[in-house]
Amino acid sequence: MDHKPDKYKVADLKLAAEGARLVEWAESRMPVLMALRKKYSKIKPFKGYRIAGCLHVTKETAVLVKTFVEAGAEVSWSGCNPLSTNDAVASALAKEGISIFAWHGMSVKEFYWCIEETLRFKPNLTLDDGADLIFTIHNRHPEFAQQFVIGGTEETTTGVHRLRAMAADGALKYPVIAVNDAETKWDFDNVYGTGQSTLDGILRATSVLFAGKNLVVAGFGHCGRGVAMRAKGLGANVIITEVKPTAALKATLEGYRVMPMDEAARVGDIFVTATGVKDVIVKRHFELMKDGAIVSNTGHYDCEVNLVDLGKLAKSKREIRPNNEEYTLKNGRKVFLLAQGRLVNLAAAEGHPSEVMDMSFANQFLSQLRIVSLHRSGKRLENAVHDIPAEQDQEIALVKLGTQGLAIDRLTAEQKKYIDDYSSGT
Ligand SMILES: NC(=O)c1ccc[n+]([C@@H]2O[C@H](COP(=O)([O-])OP(=O)(O)OC[C@H]3O[C@@H](n4cnc5c(N)ncnc54)[C@H](O)[C@@H]3O)[C@@H](O)[C@H]2O)c1
Repeated sequence: MDHKPDKYKVADLKLAAEGARLVEWAESRMPVLMALRKKYSKIKPFKGYRIAGCLHVTKETAVLVKTFVEAGAEVSWSGCNPLSTNDAVASALAKEGISIFAWHGMSVKEFYWCIEETLRFKPNLTLDDGADLIFTIHNRHPEFAQQFVIGGTEETTTGVHRLRAMAADGALKYPVIAVNDAETKWDFDNVYGTGQSTLDGILRATSVLFAGKNLVVAGFGHCGRGVAMRAKGLGANVIITEVKPTAALKATLEGYRVMPMDEAARVGDIFVTATGVKDVIVKRHFELMKDGAIVSNTGHYDCEVNLVDLGKLAKSKREIRPNNEEYTLKNGRKVFLLAQGRLVNLAAAEGHPSEVMDMSFANQFLSQLRIVSLHRSGKRLENAVHDIPAEQDQEIALVKLGTQGLAIDRLTAEQKKYIDDYSSGT
């Protein structure tokens, strides 16, 4: 179990120069995180701390990893999805001496092998996207929580849901900060990031015309709202399926049609699941679909579209273009599945634009720093899922506005007093 800091496994080190250029490009679009890098590279607050990360290896993630390293941390990283690693970026990180275990197209067994490798250097902090790293520690190495892990952060909705369930059961062995639930993450990354990059993924895998198509979005939460908004902008007729009455109602007031998936399956040309729940599209839906229907998922796991059902209904399948498999069903119709039912924006495109990850990863950096700062002063959050401080959201948003050359008004002392003044009426 000895840690060798220069250890890595990536697809091809020869891609490192290309990866380094991609990372440079992302750095030029992430001013908030770069400002944090500049500030903390001088103080090195993470010196002596080891961070294990399990999060999509994209050019933006590389900017975060390099920021941790410049702020003094030792880092070991794996991807959080078998299809989301950018091999050039992974190689660039490996070339810089960062311990990284990630390549595009790995098997599920290799995925967990990579996580285990990142745990070999006994991390003090974990950084997750989907909680696979935290679950691996809890299930396979529960003693790590007592021995050296002081806390963790979680990037996505699905991970936060499960961690809150763990905490409610008293099963969470160390504190976790829910980065996903920060306003400057959930209301930006999930909405505008997923909105744009999901369409980017569908376009790269299909190059279809959106205008005039019936596009079915399952789930009108943060991600679904973004996908619907951007698809509408391209001229699609957006249909929403939901299980939550208020979310469905909001969708109708945004001008979308709302119906159950049993109806939407008959009329949809393009399907996008964005629910975080399994079995949203199953056998009976595939049986109803039009010839040529395109099916994709942008939720965290590849269980929203039931691939076993699709496989059973198909008499043959072939890859018709990258990230696009044509399934010929026994009823003679064709259904096209994108990115093997995995996150279409990361598998078929590049994930969210750097500008939006700037805020998500500023939240990651500051949340990890919060855990370390508390530890240095002999304190620790309780073993629960914690929100980020409200001031952190406002500070990140203010800095982001500043980088866009935008200023805003400030409340006067009189206005602040007025807000809380319960003695004044009309
Ligand atoms: N693609 C990406 O890069 C990306 C980015 C952020 C989050 N995510 C993932 O996307 C998923 C959704 O995240 P979110 O932040 O939008 O969550 P959210 O909680 O804001 O929204 C999910 C919505 O789905 C609805 N829903 C649940 N089950 C449903 C069903 N069977 N049919 C129809 N609707 C259903 C819920 O009522 C809710 O309104 C999660 O898995 C999350 O981890 C992906």
